[in-house]
Amino acid sequence: MVNGTRAARRRPLAAGNWKMHRTRAETVRLLKTLAARLEERRPAAADGPPVAAAGAEVVVCPPFTALGDAARALEGTGIALGAQNLHWEDEGAYTGEISAPMLVECSCRYVIVGHSERRQYFGETNETVRKRLGAAARHGLHPILCVGETWEERRAGRTKQVVRTQLTSALAGFPDGAPAGLCVAYEPVWAIGTGQAARGEDAQEVAALIRQLLAGLFGDDAAAATRILYGGSVKPDNILEFSRQPDIDGALVGGASLDPSSFAEIVERVAR
Ligand code: 13P
Repeated sequence: MVNGTRAARRRPLAAGNWKMHRTRAETVRLLKTLAARLEERRPAAADGPPVAAAGAEVVVCPPFTALGDAARALEGTGIALGAQNLHWEDEGAYTGEISAPMLVECSCRYVIVGHSERRQYFGETNETVRKRLGAAARHGLHPILCVGETWEERRAGRTKQVVRTQLTSALAGFPDGAPAGLCVAYEPVWAIGTGQAARGEDAQEVAALIRQLLAGLFGDDAAAATRILYGGSVKPDNILEFSRQPDIDGALVGGASLDPSSFAEIVERVAR
């Protein structure tokens, strides 16, 4: 049994995907406000950086251009930095792309891979997702692998089949074990940016499937240790519906992560 009660090792995670929002200057301002909001919510008895006290891990993923400034702004806050994509080669003639070593140099610890907007607008396929995951793993970046069905796929009863294919083909390049620090984000495409979040029980059903598939690929222990996030119109007033599910360990947040007060509230609720 790999699902059910949350394994003690699975620390809740709240990750903010800023997408193509915020300049360098705006990023620094947003992060300073976020750190202050988290500090305000620190439990009275806790010491250490604001986030360590909150009981959840917090990651922000600003645009590439702001990563350097973000890294400096985050020093001492306990908030980790992530990127929104990476190329599979370390360097080469790939105009417009960014490699894993470049992200590591910017102090990134996480990287989002296979977001549905990349699949939808930029030709991302399960094959390129697999290659990008490989690059993340080679360089010690913790991947946040995104999977999720479209509305048409859900209506046709194909949700589980789509998620199964996305997950297993992305992870086919790892015969010897899961990439270190792997997180999987279940993000139904129809719930992203629409204000229409999934129902908690539906998200749980897919999260349980993901954990079951991970157990088949990597064994029960690895599956029990992997964090599974929900993403798609997460807000402070609906996050508990997801974070209280046994197989959901936090959230990948788009729009609400651009508002420091909302994101701090989500962090607090994810940590509960
Ligand atoms: P929203 O929270 O804006 O729906 O975006 C979700 C998302 O795509 C996170 O990666």
